[in-house]
Amino acid sequence: MSEVVVDHAEGAVVPVHALLESETAAFLEGRAAFVKGFAALSEFKGKAGQLLVVPDTAGGMDRVLYGLGERAQAQGFRALAAKLPPGDYRIASAPAAIAPDQIALAFALGSYRFDRYKKKGESRPRLVFEGVDLSEARQIAHACALARDMVNTPASDMGPLQIETIAREIAEQYGATITVTTGEGLLEANYPAVHAVGRAAVPERAPRMIEIQWGQAGKPLVALVGKGVVFDTGGLDIKPSAGMRNMKKDMGGAAHALALGRMVMAANLPVRLAILVPVVENAISGDAMRPGDVLASRKGLTIEVGNTDAEGRLILADALTRAGELEPALTFDLATLTGAARMALGPQLPPYYTDDEELAGQIETAMKEVDDPMWRMPLWKGYVDSIDSDVADVKNDSDAWAQAGSVTAALFLQKFAPAGPWAHFDIFAWNPRGRPGWPSGGEVQSIRALYRMIAGRFA
Ligand code: BES
Ligand code: MN
Ligand code: ZN
Repeated sequence: MSEVVVDHAEGAVVPVHALLESETAAFLEGRAAFVKGFAALSEFKGKAGQLLVVPDTAGGMDRVLYGLGERAQAQGFRALAAKLPPGDYRIASAPAAIAPDQIALAFALGSYRFDRYKKKGESRPRLVFEGVDLSEARQIAHACALARDMVNTPASDMGPLQIETIAREIAEQYGATITVTTGEGLLEANYPAVHAVGRAAVPERAPRMIEIQWGQAGKPLVALVGKGVVFDTGGLDIKPSAGMRNMKKDMGGAAHALALGRMVMAANLPVRLAILVPVVENAISGDAMRPGDVLASRKGLTIEVGNTDAEGRLILADALTRAGELEPALTFDLATLTGAARMALGPQLPPYYTDDEELAGQIETAMKEVDDPMWRMPLWKGYVDSIDSDVADVKNDSDAWAQAGSVTAALFLQKFAPAGPWAHFDIFAWNPRGRPGWPSGGEVQSIRALYRMIAGRFA
């Protein structure tokens, strides 16, 4: 990715004034008559995303006025990246509440594009920050772009091996150790549920368990678990076409866990990390798991497969059990786990679950600080017997009476989660509608906040 936030530029750099609606009139009052008049003529009011290029007398760009709307929030700069013509710019003024490196990060996130299969990339606007340390913002932006690329890449080019390769690259870059257990090896290593879900795939796309470990002994361990379903057909309980259409994104949790881990390692936060990513294709073949099958799990609990399309929680069960064996001080899992989460809160607001009040408080604080919204939902114990099975210890699809599909999925995971602080994130990882700064397709959710939260908790 070519850098869109830089610390110096050779040629002309156009000033950008980022203005709240409430301060726009006063700002214009203090400008030259031409600027003031041109803004009035163009009805520039500082509304969110409003952009006005003020020309000079030679027909070039004198300056740019950019509206932030009512609230001083860094994410307001995402649309700036999408709306500016190519060229070099600097922020001449912006609300004091937004730090320059937050602006840089939002701008970088907003300029993301997925152009792997397009003929040529167009040139993009760049934002120049002199005297600002951009290294952290750049690392976060890179990690987010990687996760979005992984989500956007079709399953044909983002299979289990490709995810393994990316994990190996990340591990190597930061001196982490990586272990990958593949195919029949999963049975020997006691990952029976991961094997059962992934065994229907062709041998080249065999299931695997990826484990990355990083950091110095003695530091507190943070475990990051991510659902890596490279494509979710639904299995024998096959999805209808509309439901299957975007299931290349079902490895979004794995992409998010790897990206968050990369942020933590790049910043050298004072923790140890375990990144645990079960990767499978939920495919259909004569060897596919069937409705009614009873699976073994790493934890020893037997799981009845009520529905082969509830596959994410099966592979996460083994991965969460593995996390617990490492005795983490904190565990997060991220997964495109349920359609019910989207029915509850829509694509922009991922639900998260934890019974740990202190942890919830820290997540709330961090998500506000970095403008990465989530919504806490309850691990409502009244629904836990909806996943009781007649024949096994638990089943993977809840009884219809409980209705709350995202909640019952979280309750299933809780049975396998490590003791101690744990939170589960039922992410969507996708923008169904494109808008400036938020292109349609792969999106990163929750992990900017979680990075901030980890940095604060273990500072
Ligand atoms: N990957 C899907 C969930 C999903 C669907 C996420 C659409 C985002 C958008 C998951 O594996 C799944 O199929 N869940 C089922 C569970 C049900 C069969 C109990 C669901 O949510 O319908
Ligand atoms: Mn499914
Ligand atoms: Zn799935």
